[in-house]
Amino acid sequence: MYNKRTKINALLQADTTNYEATVMGWVRTFRNNQFIALNDGSTNNNLQVVVALGLLDDATLKRITTGACIKATGEIIASLGKGQKIELKATSIEILGDSDAEKFPLQPKKHSLEFLREIAHLRFRTNTFGAVFRVRHSLAFAIHQFFNDKGFVYLHTPIITASDAEGAGEMFRVTTLPLDGTAPKNADGAINYKEDFFGRSTNLTVSGQLEGELAAMAYSDIYTFGPTFRAENSNTARHLAEFWMIEPEVAFNDLEDNMNLAEEFIKYVINYALKNNKEDIEFLAQRLEDEEKTKPQAERSEMGLLEKLNFVVNNQFERLTYTEAIDILKNSNHNKKKKFQYPVENWGTDLQSEHERYLVEKHFKKPVILTDYPKEIKSFYMRMNDDGKTVAAMDILAPGIGEIVGGSQREERYDKLVQRMKEMNVPAEELDFYLDTRRFGSCIHAGFGLGFERLVLFVTGMTNIRDVIPFPRYPKSASF
Ligand code: 4AD
Ligand code: MG
Repeated sequence: MYNKRTKINALLQADTTNYEATVMGWVRTFRNNQFIALNDGSTNNNLQVVVALGLLDDATLKRITTGACIKATGEIIASLGKGQKIELKATSIEILGDSDAEKFPLQPKKHSLEFLREIAHLRFRTNTFGAVFRVRHSLAFAIHQFFNDKGFVYLHTPIITASDAEGAGEMFRVTTLPLDGTAPKNADGAINYKEDFFGRSTNLTVSGQLEGELAAMAYSDIYTFGPTFRAENSNTARHLAEFWMIEPEVAFNDLEDNMNLAEEFIKYVINYALKNNKEDIEFLAQRLEDEEKTKPQAERSEMGLLEKLNFVVNNQFERLTYTEAIDILKNSNHNKKKKFQYPVENWGTDLQSEHERYLVEKHFKKPVILTDYPKEIKSFYMRMNDDGKTVAAMDILAPGIGEIVGGSQREERYDKLVQRMKEMNVPAEELDFYLDTRRFGSCIHAGFGLGFERLVLFVTGMTNIRDVIPFPRYPKSASF
């Protein structure tokens, strides 16, 4: 057995000394040919490994460089130096992997997030990304725990589908047909997808919801948690072409049940991270505070990261209708002074993220759930309200993020659903399987989608979504 190491986190947590331990990890710094700061990713805190004079020959000492991988065995003793309680007094050190200090791009200094994005394959080895991706892991775990505790079934929905679940046409095509003009064609010159791998036109999924609804009509409570893909050309700090989504779908839930579930869910996972990732979140809070100091006073956020997270966990989200929100926006001084890029004039217009952020950050100063949007700006599957103008939709808007959740009660009435599909040009023949749920034992049901990276953004206080997914995909970029 090779791996007889103790994780650095475990060593630092245990308040004991005078025992032998072996550690393996990557050198962050090496001072005075004597003090190695070693990190193994279990925590941002490094273990100080002390190399006594004469333990290693000069050639080996030279190989202890930033980025090198080493194994160290020795005694855990109380540290004499400042900054750490314990340290490892090495009796043997083995270089597992050299790292050419001249070429290794990470120097023991602060690098910009933009630079680190270009070397995303190495950025895990920095404190910021070490913390971000440990928190991301924890949130994913908390999500499964939340739904498992509630008796939900975790459903794996397909990545390759033939339907456009959102009806928005923002799909990546999946094909094995040649792209050099020799693909088989129909009489009208269009490509004949009957000859394609699946015998039809297929794409990467934009959402697992439709399949989720099918399973909810059997298990009552399901959730999905998987990658989704959108070919929208949105080059923003909030959009990815490949992102992860959590989509619960619950039979017998109406819109209010849906909101209650979403609010409880968000609070639960944030709480989990606050409890289980205290050190990392404290580190990220400090990082954010330092970053905020470089901004003009007016642009700084009023709350620190920890304060903000605790506030969200401990306060009710504000709930109001789209119509009420439009009134607030229309009558706001911000609107009257023409400070919105898109002025708010008429009922029926879609809200821009500047409007969402105004409601959340300036007006209510807390997360907001907006409901009952005009049917024209929402998807075909949302339940029509009695007014015939609005649908039972809900979006959750978070401070600094904007939309974090989108959901609705679903149209469970067959005739009404078919009518909406016609009005919105959603091809009914492709979704016949979906309509079967409305033919056989249909019932009231509701669900929502939480964008996982937007949640991670919120909890880590990072400002660009490209920094909370290990290898981001966005327009003109698919490196690594
Ligand atoms: O609002 P959306 O499009 O809703 C759906 O896909 C529904 N089928 C969900 C459901 O009811 N089951 O997307 C849901 C969430 C958004 O609120 C947002 O957080 C996130 O997914 N999202 C994105 N995240 C990153 N990059 C993108 N391009 C995103 N598009 C949506
Ligand atoms: Mg949405």
